[in-house]
Amino acid sequence: MGNRILVFYGSYRSDRKGIRLADYIVAGLSKRGDDVELIDAKAIGLPILDRMYKEYEPGSAPAAMESLASKIRGSDAFVFVTGEYNWGMQPGLKNLTDHFLEEWFWRPAAIASYSASRISGARSGLLWHGTLSEMGLIVISSTLAVGPIAQALSAEGQPLGESGQLLDRNFIRFADDLAWWTEAAKMQRARRPPPY
Ligand SMILES: Cc1cc2nc3c(=O)[nH]c(=O)nc-3n(C[C@H](O)[C@H](O)[C@H](O)COP(=O)(O)O)c2cc1C
Repeated sequence: MGNRILVFYGSYRSDRKGIRLADYIVAGLSKRGDDVELIDAKAIGLPILDRMYKEYEPGSAPAAMESLASKIRGSDAFVFVTGEYNWGMQPGLKNLTDHFLEEWFWRPAAIASYSASRISGARSGLLWHGTLSEMGLIVISSTLAVGPIAQALSAEGQPLGESGQLLDRNFIRFADDLAWWTEAAKMQRARRPPPY
């Protein structure tokens, strides 16, 4: 099995579309041999931030938070699928990520933005870049930007038409770049274990 990668997605809407891109990325990375899991913030259902994971006494965090903390710590890389609400981030995904800090450190993160328009969620992608950096992640330079999402991906996450073909082409570079940084970070963590 290749690298352990978590794909995060955070829309809570009943008619959400970004799940198509999350599913597409999970399938694409799995096909390359990685061990990939979708982390759907809505399904995990953490409360609006009260205490961060590290602020709980060991063993006393809610089960969903404990389980996610150990998944994050046990992963080699992360992909953040970021939609855009009023030029901003989706609150569900931001709320989930804010529960953790040190758990993220010393690993690469890739951003895949999307929206209903041709702007492809680029503004939320830009905001996430700074946030992920602050969270101790190495944000890779390759991104995916998909929009309008419903023209690029079917409900099953299959590429559609010209936009889908473009996405398929861009995905290769995106996944190669993520794999390179994942390998680099993995080697360095093994050579010199992180101080915390
Ligand atoms: C509250 C809200 C605000 C939105 N603001 C933007 C926006 O600023 N830019 C944009 O391109 N699309 C915007 N959209 C359209 C979304 O890109 C589109 O609904 C997308 O499918 C949302 O992701 P989701 O379906 O995974 O929830 C907005 C949608 C909602 C519900």
